[in-house]
Amino acid sequence: MTDSPITAQGPAAPAAAPQGEPILQVRNLVKHFPLTQGILFKKQIGAVKAVDGVSFDLYRGETLGIVGESGCGKSTVAKLLMNLEQATSGEVFYKGQDITRLSGRALKAVRRNIQMVFQDPYTSLNPRMTVGDIIGEPFDIHPEAAPKGDRRRRVRELLDVVGLNPEYINRYPHQFSGGQRQRIGIARGLALNPEIIICDEPVSALDVSVQAQVVNLMEKLQDEFGLSYVFIAHDLSIVRHISDRVGVMYLGRIAEIGSDAEIYEHPTHPYTQALLSAVPVPDPEAREHRERIILSGDVPSPANPPSGCRFRTRCWKAQDRCATETPLLAIPERFADSGTLAAHESACHFAEAVSY
Ligand SMILES: Nc1ncnc2c1ncn2[C@@H]1O[C@H](COP(=O)(O)OP(=O)(O)O)[C@@H](O)[C@H]1O
Ligand code: SF4
Ligand SMILES: [Mg+2]
Repeated sequence: MTDSPITAQGPAAPAAAPQGEPILQVRNLVKHFPLTQGILFKKQIGAVKAVDGVSFDLYRGETLGIVGESGCGKSTVAKLLMNLEQATSGEVFYKGQDITRLSGRALKAVRRNIQMVFQDPYTSLNPRMTVGDIIGEPFDIHPEAAPKGDRRRRVRELLDVVGLNPEYINRYPHQFSGGQRQRIGIARGLALNPEIIICDEPVSALDVSVQAQVVNLMEKLQDEFGLSYVFIAHDLSIVRHISDRVGVMYLGRIAEIGSDAEIYEHPTHPYTQALLSAVPVPDPEAREHRERIILSGDVPSPANPPSGCRFRTRCWKAQDRCATETPLLAIPERFADSGTLAAHESACHFAEAVSY
């Protein structure tokens, strides 16, 4: 039985990658949280395989969407990308330098360029700090990047950039709506002029009407400042709006990755097909032709994932081979020379083209 990492592809760029230099190269990233027993003498009895062999590239100026159900390892990937969580193994190259091996001053220097925006605008802002202090806090952590002279002027500018009234600088987080609070979180993320922003479900806690406004703001800022985004969500429809490429995660691994059109119009992995079949379609005619795939059962525990293909316990196409042989994330042979949008990386032995 083989249960080797799913993407042993080394630093070679994935075939379907866009042109240009990647700014972030993630290779075989693994995070296992030890499961222990006992109080005085802790004994490891297993591990939660939260992230188990994830590889992708992030290109300058692009948005890479990462989607998947709750618990599949998205937030852990986000933290690994900034070395907020120590990787069990694997590498994250930022401009060729492996972040997972950095500490102290060298890590701090890299972190200036990679910022994070979190999901919950209610808990991620300190309620006892004014908005001015929250947005200006990164300047205390990185004085070398602080504006010379008037910091508050820079904070006012940042408020203006994210569409908030600069006069609000002395207000507290509770005086703002959810969408406004997320704008404050984004302003803080922008303070140090980063190159990359890792957005962990930045709009999931917001009302649908507000989600679109915040996503539009993020797109505008991306153009203005040449930012690269990793945009995490569990909702496929939101990711589509902002992403150039999308990676679909399942139980700590990437099931399928490709351009926006490849994933949304020609998904080849059964998991992606099931997720897409559940996305509401506004056009009634298209809706009539779409078959709704209902996934049976729950996501298995990452402490004891299925052998072979991790999706097999819920896959309607599963065969014996799926239990014994881990499908590699690669362009399926039958599509490699097809010249169609099905020619993108998919970790399924029986990948099949379906048009949506
Ligand atoms: N610090 C931790 N210790 C133990 N298990 C963890 C820890 N953080 C996350 N996990 C587990 O890792 C898995 C993936 O979690 P997470 O990355 O938060 O997923 P997602 O963001 O996709 O919902 C879950 O089973 C979660 O319970
Ligand atoms: S490898 Fe097998 S179990 Fe996994 S998605 Fe493909 S058909 Fe389903
Ligand atoms: Mg999460």
